[in-house]
Amino acid sequence: MTADTEGSLQVTDPRTGRTYQLPIHEGAIRATDLRQVKVSDDDFGLMSYDPAFMNTASCRSAITYIDGEKGILRYRGYPIEELAESSSFLEVAYLLLNGELPDKAQADEWAEEVTNHTFVHENVKKFIDGFHHDAHPMGILVSTIAALSTFYPESKEITNDALRHHQVVRMIAKMPTLAAFAYRHAKGFPYAYPDDDLSYTGNFLNMMFKMTELKYHPEPVLERALDVLFILHADHEQNCSANVMRAVGSAHSDPYMAAAAAAAALYGPLHGGANEQVLKMLNEIGSVERVPEYVARVKRGELRLMGFGHRVYKNFDPRAKIIKKIADEVFEVTGRNHLLDIALELERVALGDEYFVHHKLYPNVDFYSGIIYQAMGFPVTMFPVLFAIGRVPGWLAQWEEGILDPEQKISRPRQLYVGAGLRHLSAGSTGGPK
Ligand code: ACO
Repeated sequence: MTADTEGSLQVTDPRTGRTYQLPIHEGAIRATDLRQVKVSDDDFGLMSYDPAFMNTASCRSAITYIDGEKGILRYRGYPIEELAESSSFLEVAYLLLNGELPDKAQADEWAEEVTNHTFVHENVKKFIDGFHHDAHPMGILVSTIAALSTFYPESKEITNDALRHHQVVRMIAKMPTLAAFAYRHAKGFPYAYPDDDLSYTGNFLNMMFKMTELKYHPEPVLERALDVLFILHADHEQNCSANVMRAVGSAHSDPYMAAAAAAAALYGPLHGGANEQVLKMLNEIGSVERVPEYVARVKRGELRLMGFGHRVYKNFDPRAKIIKKIADEVFEVTGRNHLLDIALELERVALGDEYFVHHKLYPNVDFYSGIIYQAMGFPVTMFPVLFAIGRVPGWLAQWEEGILDPEQKISRPRQLYVGAGLRHLSAGSTGGPK
């Protein structure tokens, strides 16, 4: 038992009458402490059953703090609101990975390091070319992230600090390139190469939208807005994709393979694919007048209101508040997206409705992000890809923390077996039931 133990939980097992003291540390008991609770010597011991990890901490982490009831999100202690106001995405990436914000010299060195790695091997273009013209860019992204593993076999040396850092830089640097190439393949446009004169986000816009101009000049308001959107998506503690990143990383796969798996998880409509679904939903609703009818269908359980609800936030999602402000700034430049009116009405009706109040359903980060992305000229299929670019520093920080945590081992949950008991094939059986 450690010195800062907060007491213990006393458990009496009525099956045996025995009493156990389970130490409480950092607000938790250790699930393995339950194993001593047995009815006989050959009993495996008590397990906890927690589908979807509703109440199980899988790690100790110093990266991101969330208080879902109060709507608090902090990276390494800094409120998301302050980082969105004053930092760049690359500074936030540095913070997540290193624990501290960079000073000026460190920020410059970090930006240069990332900028120097934005190019991808020319062969990457060849296999992107092999995808069907209407291949979803998220499918292309997942595949190309995994493919980077084959270009950098030294990435398997995950205990080598310098090599680990090298892969971290490469992945953050190359994500926008892979993402933009996936987009241009679908459009049938020639690939636009990175421009090292531009910021991280400015260069991404360049690779996305550069046409015949000799030099692409990103619109500063849109460049900053996208940078802030990346900041808002940069980490979110043990969400589905971060959990996948850690789980695959725990098998000592290289970080490209782990990130490809994390991106695959992010693709799901209940996770990073939700912003794509929000746009589909708003288009399906079609007009402000049809909002009440749609909300009624949601309440009848026919469908879910996409962009609403969150496993952790139960009062408001602080990212959604910041995004709403960005939307105003972006629409000043791009003109108003007509879907905004439907979204605002949907939010108004839902927040005043007993069903949504009772279920604690509020707009999440995805509710407004899609409308902004669309106004900036991104097709809907690119929305989860944008989310993935922003989330990569978080995945990498979570992965490194897991790799370096001496308490961690290969991730391997238990199960409660509920299948058939022992049974045998009949004599002479070829395998099928008789
Ligand atoms: N619309 C309508 N009802 C909802 C919604 C919704 N968006 N979300 C949850 N509910 C209801 C459920 O039907 C359920 O009702 P019941 O208790 O009467 O059966 C109750 O609220 C609890 O729902 P769960 O699915 O148990 O909540 P959980 O915490 O598992 O799900 C999730 C969270 C997946 C985000 C869910 O709210 C959802 O599906 N939202 C829509 C998809 C979405 O926007 N995802 C993006 C999440 S943010 C992100 O990944 C960046």
